[in-house]
Amino acid sequence: MDLDLDQHLADASALIAEAADLDALGALDTELLGRKSVVTEARRGLGDLDPDRRREAGSRLNDARAALEGLLEGRRVELEAGERTVRLEAERMDLTELDRGRRLGHRHVVTQTWERLEDLFVGMGYTVAEGPEIEDEWHNFGALNFPPGHPARDMYDTLYVDYGDPLSTLLRTHTSPVQIRVMETEEPPIYSIMPGRVFRSDTADATHMPVFHQIEALVIDRDITFGDLAGTLEAFTTAYFGAGFTSRLRPSYFPFTEPSAEFDIRRPDGSWLELGGCGMVHPNVLRAGGLDPEEWSGFAFGFGLDRLALMRHGIDDLRELFRNDHRFLSQF
Ligand code: DAH
Repeated sequence: MDLDLDQHLADASALIAEAADLDALGALDTELLGRKSVVTEARRGLGDLDPDRRREAGSRLNDARAALEGLLEGRRVELEAGERTVRLEAERMDLTELDRGRRLGHRHVVTQTWERLEDLFVGMGYTVAEGPEIEDEWHNFGALNFPPGHPARDMYDTLYVDYGDPLSTLLRTHTSPVQIRVMETEEPPIYSIMPGRVFRSDTADATHMPVFHQIEALVIDRDITFGDLAGTLEAFTTAYFGAGFTSRLRPSYFPFTEPSAEFDIRRPDGSWLELGGCGMVHPNVLRAGGLDPEEWSGFAFGFGLDRLALMRHGIDDLRELFRNDHRFLSQF
């Protein structure tokens, strides 16, 4: 065989290195390895050789072919990487050019409700207070006039925390314990609201969640009457819901208020919605908060905050609020 394979490989190597793009490389692939290529033609000529020379030449051709394939493949990888870089560069998006107005995130619908309520009560002269989510039994129950073993404790499916004495530490079941914390730290007159997260061992369904939100109000002053409570709730109702809404009170029972009531709001279509509980702060609760019931009186109320968010937006399943599906939440 008079073919100079070394020279052929050197020439091919130079051509491959110069291939400017994948198309040019494809053409070279055909030229160097295809049916009419030097190595293929040479293989055809092997049949004319005697067996020994044929074996030797065949093996050199195989090596040459493998070398060519390696060179082509190496260059292909290089060119592909280059083309990807070019493509990425061309497709690069300037994210700062997106329509900011529509794509910017916003507050969760519960947070919006929470802040509206705060704004409204702050506008009425109330301060905003907070208390711990992990509470002791005294603040969540005892100080609120639930004696140990009192059946009213069963109204709350309490989640206890494995800390300290058994049943001494819990996830607060309502925001009412913050009333006690406010009385402990502030001198009356007190006009405070206490929004927050509360916990009950409930199974999630369309109207219940094991974690939800309440807002509590506490007013302590001299000569506060039940009329003040009713008037405050009425003022709140029209301010929050609008002129077509009114409120009513129905007798009820809570250990920490006496008398106690449920308050409902009447929608413009005449239907009633039960919103929360309220009443005059029980003397035992005033005492637990370090106040003299002869000197001070007050009212309190508390209601679920999530339901307000549902109502306002006509959402009928509480769970939607907490699934955190962006497609849902972005509507509000
Ligand atoms: N804490 C009560 C509950 O979660 C609601 C409540 C009722 C709060 C009466 C009050 C109140 O402040 O006076 O069911």
